[in-house]
Amino acid sequence: TIEKICAYEGQIVTLSGWLYNKRSSGKIIFLQIRDGSGFIQGVVVKKEVSEAVFEACKNLPQESSFHVTGMVQRDERSALGYELLVREVEVVCRAEEGYPISLKEHGTDFLMDYRHLWMRTPRQHAILRIRDEINLGLREFFHEAGFVLVEPPIITPASCEGTTELFEIDYFGENAYLSQTGQLYAEAAAMAFGKVYSFGPTFRAEKSKTRKHLNEFWMIEPEMAFVDFEGNLKVQEEMVSYVIKRVLQQRRRELELLGRDVTALEKIEPPFPRITYTEAVEMLKNAGFEFEWGDDFGAPHETHIADQYEKPVFITHFPTSMKAFYMQPDPMNPEVILGADLIAPEGYGEIIGGSQRIHDLELLLEKLRAENLPEEVYQWYIELRKFGSVPHSGFGLGLERTVAWICGIDHIRQTIPFARTLNRVYP
Ligand code: 4AD
Ligand code: MG
Repeated sequence: TIEKICAYEGQIVTLSGWLYNKRSSGKIIFLQIRDGSGFIQGVVVKKEVSEAVFEACKNLPQESSFHVTGMVQRDERSALGYELLVREVEVVCRAEEGYPISLKEHGTDFLMDYRHLWMRTPRQHAILRIRDEINLGLREFFHEAGFVLVEPPIITPASCEGTTELFEIDYFGENAYLSQTGQLYAEAAAMAFGKVYSFGPTFRAEKSKTRKHLNEFWMIEPEMAFVDFEGNLKVQEEMVSYVIKRVLQQRRRELELLGRDVTALEKIEPPFPRITYTEAVEMLKNAGFEFEWGDDFGAPHETHIADQYEKPVFITHFPTSMKAFYMQPDPMNPEVILGADLIAPEGYGEIIGGSQRIHDLELLLEKLRAENLPEEVYQWYIELRKFGSVPHSGFGLGLERTVAWICGIDHIRQTIPFARTLNRVYP
């Protein structure tokens, strides 16, 4: 493959791929070849190939598929460092003329309509390769640390975050929902396995049209028995630092292609700074924002706070009234919870939400009642507090926001193969 081409300098290889682009200057044709693993320039010199091969290349439409045979040689001018001196071309499928995505500037809506083709281009390809690396890095981090992967259901009988942003479905005549989070089920699994994580798609019927919101996104959600608020933050900073380091090692070429400033990423290592919600409110007021204790942060607030630091920052001890029913209130001050959001640098916003969970049966029942949540459907969750309940904690990291931050790209819709947003369920 192109990715491994450096091992074949001076040798004849056959690549199976597609014609990404082409230019010719009479006696030489330059083929931009992609094979899924990368991009390489193929050089077809008229006097060195048969007439049939030269003619075939000259007339080949963009995105035709082929097997190309040639010699690998160094080319200092290319990002890859190598090019292919073409000898043979065997066309697999001659593409139709009029490939919709040309190299000229297209609007993003147009490109999103052609996402199935847009994902073939170098920038989109690089983003999704980095996404894969982050995916693997996260799984590896938890696997190495002894966590067990459990899959929560996607169809649930109740809201798992206690909010109303749910996609409702008809489950054989009963109401059910697409899950917003796997957390409650991960809590059950943590009482069976100690340390677990789920990693799956989650669904929110939010009518937000921002750079940070998707209606379907992926979340990794660890849950740990006998771990408190402090221990929870420690796992988070270690996990984020581990993943960044891995991407810097394995996907440097993709980061460079995206123009990412890697020096900013190289600074990410534990510990991360922490401020309380109350301190953050003071910080905002001092900076001239109109903001009251109890207000939720908007994008400008998050960005202002994040800009005070070079690393991600934990905002801890949010008002209890602002957060989900399952969060453990601070015994020293029940007005605030033992939880934190992690805010990424450079304006990428909240990437993690997490907390210690309520493990006391009476307190949980009180909270469910106070929030008017139907006890019947949470019965199984309540039972976890009856049989060997222990302090436990967990969090959820949004994969797409993490990809956006690490790649340094401005919109979340490019971080997932096929985005689902307020105005889009196609393709
Ligand atoms: O803060 P959230 O809502 O937390 C939970 O769902 C918890 N149950 C997680 C847990 O403790 N197990 O969401 C967690 C993260 C956010 O920090 C953000 O990164 C991402 O999920 N997220 C979204 N990403 C894209 N589009 C959206 N609409 C998102 N909503 C949340
Ligand atoms: Mg949150």
